[in-house]
Amino acid sequence: METTETPSPAAVIVLAAGAGTRMKSRTPKVLHEIGGRSLLVHALTAAEGTGPSELVVVLRHERERVAEHLAEHASEVIVADQDEIPGTGRAVQCGLEKVTAAAGTVLVTYGDVPLLEAETLRELVASHEESGAAVTVLSARVPDPTGYGRILRSEDGTEVHGIVEHKDADEAQRAIDEINSGIYAFDIAVLRDALGRITTDNAQGEMYLTDVLSIARSDGRSVRAVVTEDVMMVEGVNDRVQLAQLGAEMNRRTLERHMRAGVTIVDPATTWIDADVSIGQDAKILPGVQLHGATDIGEEAVIGPDTTLRDTEVGAGAEVVRSHALLAVVGAGATVGPFSYLRAGTDLGAKGKIGGFVETKNAVIGEGGKIPHLSYVGDATVGEGTNVGAGTIVANYDGVQKHRTTIGKHVRVGADNVLVAPVTIGDGAATGAGTTVRKDVPAGALGVSAVAQRNVEGWTMRRRAGTASEDAARAALASEDRSAAGETAQHGAESTEENGQR
Ligand code: UD1
Ligand code: CA
Repeated sequence: METTETPSPAAVIVLAAGAGTRMKSRTPKVLHEIGGRSLLVHALTAAEGTGPSELVVVLRHERERVAEHLAEHASEVIVADQDEIPGTGRAVQCGLEKVTAAAGTVLVTYGDVPLLEAETLRELVASHEESGAAVTVLSARVPDPTGYGRILRSEDGTEVHGIVEHKDADEAQRAIDEINSGIYAFDIAVLRDALGRITTDNAQGEMYLTDVLSIARSDGRSVRAVVTEDVMMVEGVNDRVQLAQLGAEMNRRTLERHMRAGVTIVDPATTWIDADVSIGQDAKILPGVQLHGATDIGEEAVIGPDTTLRDTEVGAGAEVVRSHALLAVVGAGATVGPFSYLRAGTDLGAKGKIGGFVETKNAVIGEGGKIPHLSYVGDATVGEGTNVGAGTIVANYDGVQKHRTTIGKHVRVGADNVLVAPVTIGDGAATGAGTTVRKDVPAGALGVSAVAQRNVEGWTMRRRAGTASEDAARAALASEDRSAAGETAQHGAESTEENGQR
């Protein structure tokens, strides 16, 4: 995302030390997710997009859990610890201790502002450096500024005298509708110096970062505000209501980005797509679809309706209908569903088919391979062009261990087979309906295990006497006798043949 036109800051400091008590959660606020990423990873993605030399995150509340999350998702960031002195000013001061740069621009952002984009930050750096200001704050005009710090401007409006916190503001100041977003560009030397001079002498007994602006101003430096029109972009998450609101807004923005890039989304209201999902041109997303994680949809694929895919790759022109997949691959031109469940390690080859009511796991299905109906296929390889008959189950688990089943190319597995793993069916082989495959079937062989059918006449009358089944059987036999008698009178031979089938 780094661009050459806009300058990169020397450092970005992301504040994430606050407790976030209004979330009422055991999970630290910045680890709550929208769009498939934590709030913190969203904030860091924007920060990284400015191409800073140093990226610092300030932690305190639930420090270990957040640091662990960082190690997993953003290992290049530097962690700074805030001490017991409260306030955004102290947080930045602790962050600055990890920054080696002596000159240049440092950006300050929050870990709980997920919609902020790198482009906005780059514009802030550019405007800050162009104007030669010591501080440039990103501000916004909002209908209800309650709770926010208010921007105090000079008479002509060009310079900022300072920021007054809501709790410290008088009646006239509270009427100001231009608020501090909490996102700033600072001259690093000015910031270091001013932070050394701020106190906790205010309504909240905290070190306010906002005091840096009035200090810089009274030192005769230039302090400016850049107003953003996009208020939601700078909004923070404080409770779960805002989490849902910003989550919905992020989704709306994600869907819009895909639609503008040539993806059809039939019903944006019921479609949820995570930030990291990629979708090819002319793919069609039907109502009720959720695409999560690193899911990748190929060009002209059709997904939905009512389908959830996580970390799943769908090839060009494939179709996935009313199904659920996790860590699966669906090849180009393949079809899945309706009502199937593709678990981790499912890899369906090009033009293959996983039809209705099929569950697969660790199953590699070759090109054109088909599992059309009502099956479970786990820990198995199915060769190209092979068809697995309806109702077939791969018994991969013996109660202790899982075993693998290998089915060759162009095999015809009959309906209702049980393949007891480990077992191998050779290329071009076939199995009869109802076969329990316990031994390997060689290439080209027919495997059959079902015994020949034997009908025990009158069994129900003897063993289920007095049941509705007996009544039904007796009635059927009586009517057969009557019609046999009638038909014998008319056409003799034919009716004998019919009776022979029963
Ligand atoms: C702050 C600003 C206010 C601005 C508002 C925008 C100050 C004094 N006030 O308000 O002008 O309108 O943000 O949302 O800066 N944090 C720390 N350590 C701390 C305190 C906070 O890291 O000791 C972090 C929090 O985790 C959070 C961010 O700083 O990410 C803002 O903290 P919060 O308490 O929400 O902001 P306010 O101080 O109310
Ligand atoms: Ca806040």
